[in-house]
Amino acid sequence: MQDYHEFMDEVLVDEQTIARRVAELGEQISRDYADKDLLIVCLLRGAITFTADLTRRLTIVPELDCMSLSSYGVGHYASSGNVRVNLDLRTNIEGRHVLLVEDIVDSGRTLAHVLEMLRTRNPASLRVCVLLDKKERREVPVQVDYVGFDVPDKYVFGYGIDIDERYRHLPFIASVDLSKYKRPE
Ligand code: IMP
Ligand code: MG
Repeated sequence: MQDYHEFMDEVLVDEQTIARRVAELGEQISRDYADKDLLIVCLLRGAITFTADLTRRLTIVPELDCMSLSSYGVGHYASSGNVRVNLDLRTNIEGRHVLLVEDIVDSGRTLAHVLEMLRTRNPASLRVCVLLDKKERREVPVQVDYVGFDVPDKYVFGYGIDIDERYRHLPFIASVDLSKYKRPE
């Protein structure tokens, strides 16, 4: 397996900066849901690290559930927005205040699809918190209520975000130079 130094372009967000922003988001979400029973929905697997850190910065008592989606169709490094549910929620969200936590919003297709699906289940409210927003790449308008960082149109990895299911463990967010990256066999 390649060491990330071989293909890293640059660190976009370092560990301390992530921690500071996650703490701010935790405070903001705690204020916004102070008098509500919050259900946090972590989108597997990219949002695992972010959700784990974010929930530990909350001063309210949330419930936590997970959902796993995969997009199929064109492209290795772009989502097609044709989204399949691999693992659905165990929680009935009808009448619940739901906060969806996602790693990245890029074209917006994945989120648009999930939001549409969850809305049919009649939650009391449905908001979205994303770690990274690639605004330039948006193709579908999508509601995003809390954003960690805006990032440029570059392929990124680390802090839960993968390249070919690897490098999620890194504590910072970096961009990749795809000309130096070798896909694992
Ligand atoms: P969208 O449907 O185009 O908005 O794509 C969002 C999904 O694509 C996210 O859930 C990520 O899993 C994935 N994605 C988008 N950009 C990146 C990236 O730079 N690195 C890793 N995954 C990405
Ligand atoms: Mg994803």
